[in-house]
Formats: sequence, C-alpha cells, structure tokens
Amino acid sequence: MDDLNRKLEQLVIDAGDAFAAVEDEDTLNQVKARFVGKSGGLTALMKHMRDLDPADRPEFGRHVNEAKSRVGDLLEARRVELRDARRRADLARGYVDVTLPGRRPPRGAVHPLRRVEREIVGVFRAMGYAVATGPEVEHDFHNFEALNFPPDHPSRDMQDTFTVEDGRILRTHTSPVQIRTMLANEPPIRICAPGAVYRCDTLDMTHSPNFHQVEGLVVDEGVTMAHLKGNLQEFASRLFGKRLEIRLRPSFFPFTEPSVEVDVECPFCESGCRICGATGWIEILGAGMVDPNVFAAVGIDSDRYTGFAFGIGIERVAMLKYGIDDIRLFYENDLRFLAQFS
Ligand code: PHE
Repeated sequence: MDDLNRKLEQLVIDAGDAFAAVEDEDTLNQVKARFVGKSGGLTALMKHMRDLDPADRPEFGRHVNEAKSRVGDLLEARRVELRDARRRADLARGYVDVTLPGRRPPRGAVHPLRRVEREIVGVFRAMGYAVATGPEVEHDFHNFEALNFPPDHPSRDMQDTFTVEDGRILRTHTSPVQIRTMLANEPPIRICAPGAVYRCDTLDMTHSPNFHQVEGLVVDEGVTMAHLKGNLQEFASRLFGKRLEIRLRPSFFPFTEPSVEVDVECPFCESGCRICGATGWIEILGAGMVDPNVFAAVGIDSDRYTGFAFGIGIERVAMLKYGIDDIRLFYENDLRFLAQFS
C-alpha cells in the first residue's frame, strides 16, 4: 500500500511537470490522457486495488480520488495560463479597430421572373380573380384531350412534349389548370393560374424548354368577348401603370373559339421604338372564348354558360418590362444580372 501511494504521489508530480512543459492547449489535452485517460497512469494504478488487503481498499480509493483531483487542478491551472498567454500574444500582435464598419452580408432579391409573376397575379387579384394552381406533371387528358386538341395534333408529338415514364407528360401550357378548375368548381369561375411549363425547345435567345405562364379563366352566364377585351385592357393598363389601348387579332387555339392574339399599345414610346419594332403595338398574350367542346369535356352546360380564357408568357412580359433581349439571362443565375433587380 505504501508503495502504491508513492506511485500515486509520483504520478501527480510527473503530471505537473508534463503539463508545465506543454506550450499549447491542444497538446495539453493529449498529455492529459497519459495521466487520467482510460489507458492512463491513474487507471493502471487503480487496477492494483484488488491486490490490497480489503481493509486497505477504501483508503487507497480515497488517495486515488485525491490524486485525480490534484491532476485535474494542475491541468486547469495550466490551461488558464496557456489561454492567458495566447490572449496576451493576440493583443500584442494587433488591436481590434472598433471603428471599422461591419461587413454587410450580401442582400438577396426576388428573381425577376418571380417578381413579374407576382405583379401579374397581383393585378388579377385586385380585379377579383382567385389564384389556382395545378401540377407540372400532367395527364394527356388535362393538357390536351379535354382542351379539344385532336388526337393527331402536332404539339402532342413527343418532339414537342416531354414525357414522363408512367405515360404522363410535363404540361406544355398552364391551360390544364382551366380543366382542373372547371372539374372541381361550378361557375361562376374567375381564376388566374401562374406556373412553369415545358416544351421540347432548344434554348436560344427567345426559347427555353422551361418557361412560365399565367393562365386566366372566367366562366359565368352572359360572359362575352366584350368582357374579355375589357378585362385584358384593364390588366395591361394596371400592369404597365398607364391607360393603354389593346387590339385583338384573329388567331387559333383548339380550346377557344374565336381565338385572338392580344397586342397592347407600346408603353415605352410615343412614336415607335426598338421594343415595339416601330409599330406602336406589342403582342402580350393569347386569348379567346372557351370552346363549347371544352365545356362538354368538363360537364359544364354551354347553353347556359360562356367564358373567356387567356395565357400570358411571364418571360415575355419580363423581357419587355426590363428591356432584356436574351431569355437565357433568366436561367443562368449570374449574380451580376440578378443584382440589378434588387
Ligand atoms: N395555352 C396557350 C399557349 O400556351 C395560351 C392560351 C391560353 C390561349 C388561354 C388562349 C387561351 O399558347
């Protein structure tokens, strides 16, 4: 027992010497393990407990605990010394200039496409439209069939439409939300539906395989083309912030009859500019009166109800509003481009 106590005493002395020799806090932790760690000296001495007379064991146990706490004190004292030394060294090396301005974190901004989408939807909401959404992975039924596309219509071709393994497709326009809305609701209906659409196009200055639209649909008794024109003129005027005329040109969509292309008076010039190609008019959307075949597909009585629908390209409006001539800029996420919209 005396022999073991001497060894304990020596261990404490050795620990104190070893700690004093260490010059940094990391090494101190490694050295500590040599004395009080799982396979350190103290653990080794404790194993001799069972060689002792049982009557001596409690006393030896006390000594071990004492030794352990003295090693702990030595360790802590050295740790404090080293930390203070490090702080003194830091202070000697330089000083903190508390008058320096802080570093500002870079400020994020809403993406220009999202911003324009919010503006468009905001105008329609203010005009009493509800906001509807639908899935981007769609069934042929919602995207084509119920919208009166004949089975051999070219846009149903795989060349133009992305297909998903289970036979579904990526929607090629937001018009399937018209179908979903009419299947789920009775007229009167007045919704706009923003979202992403997909077409098998090669990315170039004016085309992208993924772009965005806002759909509109109004169905009620007595809805006429005059309502279409009035709503869209009001929309264009609010969007561009001044009273603007619109004009309708005949067009074709399978799901509207008659169908029109809608031009808005150029908001950027008085007498012809680069944006309107010196014509004074800019095409902003496609629209038309809901085709009775579409009403039939969703079970709405076309003798009682009529409606109009329209589809707006968000990229196109954003390019017009901000004078952007290359659609690819929207998708490259170059911060120098995006920062201009913050
Ligand atoms: N879905 C048409 C397109 O993507 C746009 C449109 C919507 C036209 C609603 C008329 C009515 O080209």
